[in-house]
Amino acid sequence: MAEERRNIMSYETVELDDENSALVIPDQTKLPNEVDILHLTRQQEIWDAIYLLQVRGAPAIGVAAAFGVYLAAKEIQTEDRKEFDAKFHDAKEFLNSARPTAVNLSWALNRMERVVKDHPEASVSEMKALLKAESIAIKDEDVWMCRSIGEYGLTLIKDGDGILTHCNAGQLATSKYGTALAPIHLGREKGMHFRVFCDETRPLLQGARLSAFELQEDGVDTTLICDNMASQVMKNGWVNAVFVGCDRVAANGDACNKIGTSGVAILAKYYGIPFYVLGPTSTIDMSIEKGEDITIEQRKPEEVTEMWYKKRMAPEGVKVFNPAFDFADHELISGIVTEYGIARPPYTESLKEIFRKKAEAEKAKK
Ligand code: MRU
Repeated sequence: MAEERRNIMSYETVELDDENSALVIPDQTKLPNEVDILHLTRQQEIWDAIYLLQVRGAPAIGVAAAFGVYLAAKEIQTEDRKEFDAKFHDAKEFLNSARPTAVNLSWALNRMERVVKDHPEASVSEMKALLKAESIAIKDEDVWMCRSIGEYGLTLIKDGDGILTHCNAGQLATSKYGTALAPIHLGREKGMHFRVFCDETRPLLQGARLSAFELQEDGVDTTLICDNMASQVMKNGWVNAVFVGCDRVAANGDACNKIGTSGVAILAKYYGIPFYVLGPTSTIDMSIEKGEDITIEQRKPEEVTEMWYKKRMAPEGVKVFNPAFDFADHELISGIVTEYGIARPPYTESLKEIFRKKAEAEKAKK
């Protein structure tokens, strides 16, 4: 059921309705034309929502999966812990198979399973309560991480700057603020003004449908461009910095993000514009050495040939290459902005330092 239209910034990207055992999301495939709030109760529906990008963006996928697997746990009808643990594991593996590239999906699901493994003595009903608490903590931490990324990101730009972004790493991709767009939204809260250029982001148009939408709703000076116009916009001197999100960052700093990110990074280098990757530490995968080792999701040809068009716009039977992601080589990246600070080259060292800071902060909290 389509709800009455409010400002998109006032909606939760991912919500748990525990009373009705539902994952609640605005269907992002229908934005910006319609805000259709989905209440998903079945595991297959939640899997589909992730696969179809009804909920999307690395951190939002992680939060949705955490709530999803908690809902799966709630459904398990047994008092036997061994049986519960096995069924929970199957549910976790099922959701984990929805999309391969964004590490936040497996990160959140592994974190949920850690809770199960860390409490072997708990009863099944105690386990369900612990899993609920963990899923809510994952979402709350996401809000904090995005705000912190926003604060660090703001130190890289000044009032009036022009920023170019690719895809949507905004509030619609996270629990609040976003990552790449967090400095912009936070800057707005502080009364600052930026000019943002959104690449439309072929083939699924996350830049046009989502970034341009949420920025405009937030009152930001927003200009939509086709992906192939970025070079001209940079040449005109309108871009002071590029801010993009990430789906998986390798230990050497290679940053995997929406297809086209690599090209934007190369352009930025050519024009001498700083290129920043913004993402939480949950998106950094220290077990992966370099970008080439990241699994890249391949999607259906129809996304290129017919989706969004009134009729097919390519010859029948033509071969289509449709990878969902690529990676910006670490040599092109000026900084990786995390919730624990900004990593600078060489990333093999600075990312380890970020994780040291994280471990210290976590120790201090205990
Ligand atoms: O395929 P999508 O829309 O899930 O891809 C999203 C991106 O590439 C984002 O930039 C990334 O997930 C970071 S979101 C904060």
